[in-house]
Amino acid sequence: MNESSLSIDIRLPSDWADDEMRADMTRAFTGSPIVLPPKWLYDHRGSEIFSEITRLKEYYPTEAERSLLKRHADEIASVTGADTIVELGSGTSDKTRTLLDSFAATNQLTKFAPVDVSEDTLRGAAAILDKRYPGIEIAGLVGDFTRHLPHLPTGDKRLVAFLGGTIGNFYVEERRAFLGALADVLHDGEWLLLGFDPLKSVDKILDAYNDEPGVTAKFVRNVLSVINNKLGADFDLSEFEYIPFWDGTENRVDMRLRSSVPQQIRIESLDLHVDLGEGEEIRVEISTKFSPGYLSEEIKQAGFNVHSVFLAENDEFGLLLAERSPAAQTS
Ligand code: AVJ
Repeated sequence: MNESSLSIDIRLPSDWADDEMRADMTRAFTGSPIVLPPKWLYDHRGSEIFSEITRLKEYYPTEAERSLLKRHADEIASVTGADTIVELGSGTSDKTRTLLDSFAATNQLTKFAPVDVSEDTLRGAAAILDKRYPGIEIAGLVGDFTRHLPHLPTGDKRLVAFLGGTIGNFYVEERRAFLGALADVLHDGEWLLLGFDPLKSVDKILDAYNDEPGVTAKFVRNVLSVINNKLGADFDLSEFEYIPFWDGTENRVDMRLRSSVPQQIRIESLDLHVDLGEGEEIRVEISTKFSPGYLSEEIKQAGFNVHSVFLAENDEFGLLLAERSPAAQTS
């Protein structure tokens, strides 16, 4: 009766995250300025606070993306003709179900391959999806989408979905490297569906990262708790002020933590002492906003032909659909 099949490919040894975090944090705290990689914001507590963010009235992207996916899922299914959906940074694959429903309805989908760094999150999501879509193979990959693209699950014709606007959290060089690496592993005729936050009124953007109840501040400060817990550091969260500001040159929100006092932090398992001056800032996360034209150009440079850009009302979110094409690169 039940023809479903579920497999989880673990590319990361269980202590991978510890080693990676130690290396990342050593680099960050011995550098100047101090720049943290945003993936460490999403421990269990961080993921909870992030869901709280998605329900804030100020934070427009999540709902806008959801309705945009609903509106265009059928079209995306028919245009791409993909038989496999690979989702990078899938998390709970919550919004992706809209896409899966449309693909499943046309019977063209044989495989869904969620990729996430968190094995627990992935196993939970995979089990739910397996029940909901019997007959569709669920092939999860525990891995880091910036490093494990060569191990991407196979398929006849894949659509790689990278949603949520996570592309905006990359610094520009990382973003170009990522898009190039993704193009490298895709075959001619395979597809990319990319969620992004379009450039719009700066006030509206900043409000989304500077909410009244202070949930975003709590989310950003939580990274210090992550470092305390995982690396035995002694950050006192109350000694840091959350500073969100708009960088109009790079078109991005820059989220920083500013030390209110001169202080020395000890990070025990790195055997490191970090001196912070009064007012010194730790750069925690950026969130880049894109004009559709600019992003399309970058996608084209990476080796894709942009097929369409769907925009939500008031430019609250964008979905870019592009096809891997060797011809695109040479232009
Ligand atoms: C969903 C990860 C892209 O940049 O808007 C939200 C992360 N950080 N508020 C974003 C985030 C602070 C979010 N991403």
